[in-house]
Amino acid sequence: MTKKHLTLTLTLASSTLFISPVMASESHPGQALHEEHNCLRCHIDKPYNPEKTSSYPKLVKSVRFCNENLGIGLFDEEIDELADYLNHTYYQHKKNE
Ligand code: HEC
Repeated sequence: MTKKHLTLTLTLASSTLFISPVMASESHPGQALHEEHNCLRCHIDKPYNPEKTSSYPKLVKSVRFCNENLGIGLFDEEIDELADYLNHTYYQHKKNE
């Protein structure tokens, strides 16, 4: 295989790797917001903690807290979508408690 050929193959392989986790998981509008606003740039070091944020209303408040303090500028609807996504992915709280 020529070098050029190899580079192309590797590029294709890595873009497939990049795309597949997104396609494998069910897509959620909150997931896109989570990526777009790069929440993990902090929360990779401060993992979402279901014991600390111990109910769904607290989760909504936390998302609101980060939004307001960091000037992220989310709409209310986006806060709900993010809270729902985080709940689905990390917290698993019942919504009506
Ligand atoms: C600049 C860093 C930073 C960014 C960016 C950030 N946060 Fe936070 N977030 C924090 C800090 C600090 C806390 C308080 C954590 C603590 O007290 O340990 C927090 C707390 C939270 C909590 C509660 C954490 C828990 O342990 O249950 C949630 C949920 C949360 N943030 C959501 C978000 C979302 C959603 C975004 C993106 C829209 C976001 N954060 C972006 C710094 C950040």
